[in-house]
This record gives sequence, structure tokens and C-alpha cells, in this order.
Amino acid sequence: MHIDATEKKWVIVSLVMTALMIGVLTFYAVASNIHPPSNVETINSDRLHVEGEFVEDNLGVKTMPDGSVEVRMVAARYGFYPQLLEIPADTPVRFRIASADVLHGFHVPFTNLATMVVPGYISEVNTSFPRVGEYPMLCNEYCGLGHDHMWSKIVIVEKAGG
Ligand code: CUA
Repeated sequence: MHIDATEKKWVIVSLVMTALMIGVLTFYAVASNIHPPSNVETINSDRLHVEGEFVEDNLGVKTMPDGSVEVRMVAARYGFYPQLLEIPADTPVRFRIASADVLHGFHVPFTNLATMVVPGYISEVNTSFPRVGEYPMLCNEYCGLGHDHMWSKIVIVEKAGG
């Protein structure tokens, strides 16, 4: 088979570019500890507010016996509930999020928190916040006309007794 010299050159260029991009992605995934959420747990989104883990009284920030923190949240058009989260700094945090309606995203810039919130599944992400301050929390999957307004914030406070 005859391959034109110019064609060959561009084949090599595209292969090098592909390798470079995979390299950059791999490097940042490892360096910033980014990995796809691997939790697969199903839930009945129609009955979120009626029974089980995601009823209103059970939402929010809870300190576990081992000192870590668990945050339970519902994403629904167009907001995250509860709307304001206060989380201690320097503490392992586990987010558990469920959608009450359609596909949403959960993204906190400058952290490893980024996941889809798929109706029928519980999204789980682990992190910790090294510094005191405020972080925006936003939906990054188009979920309808109010998508642009679907955001709230996380306030990181001083660790108790720290
Ligand atoms: Cu929820 Cu976009």
C-alpha cells in the first residue's frame, strides 16, 4: 500500500497529539487526585421526599462517630437542598447526592468535587477542604430553563477544637 509522504507526516502528527493529550490528562488526573466517581447505588427518585435517606429532616451536614462529616443533599430543579452548607475545614467529607427530577451536575470549582447527579442513582464523592472560606457549588449539566440559576454555596468553617 502506498502512503503519500505528506499523509504519513500528518498521521504521525495526529498520533503524537493524541499521545500528548492522553499524557496531559493522565498527569493531571494523578497529580490532582481526580478520578471518576465509582459508587453505584440506586434509589427511587419519585419517593425521595417521602421515605428513606433523602427525606428533608435527614438532609444536611452530619458529624459521624469517627469525626468525619457526611453531607446529604438533594439536587432538584433549580437548586441544591439544603441551600447552604457549613462544613469544618481539614476534615474528611463524604457527599451523598440524589436528584429529585432530571439529570443535574454537582461541581465545586478548585476542588475534586465534580459529578453527575443521575436520577435513580446516589452520587457519592469524598473530599476535604484544607482552607476556611467560601466555595460556589453549581450545576454543570443543562437541566432546564433555570439551569443558570442552579447554584449555592459551601462555607468552610474552622474545625471545632482545632
Ligand atoms: Cu441542574 Cu443544571
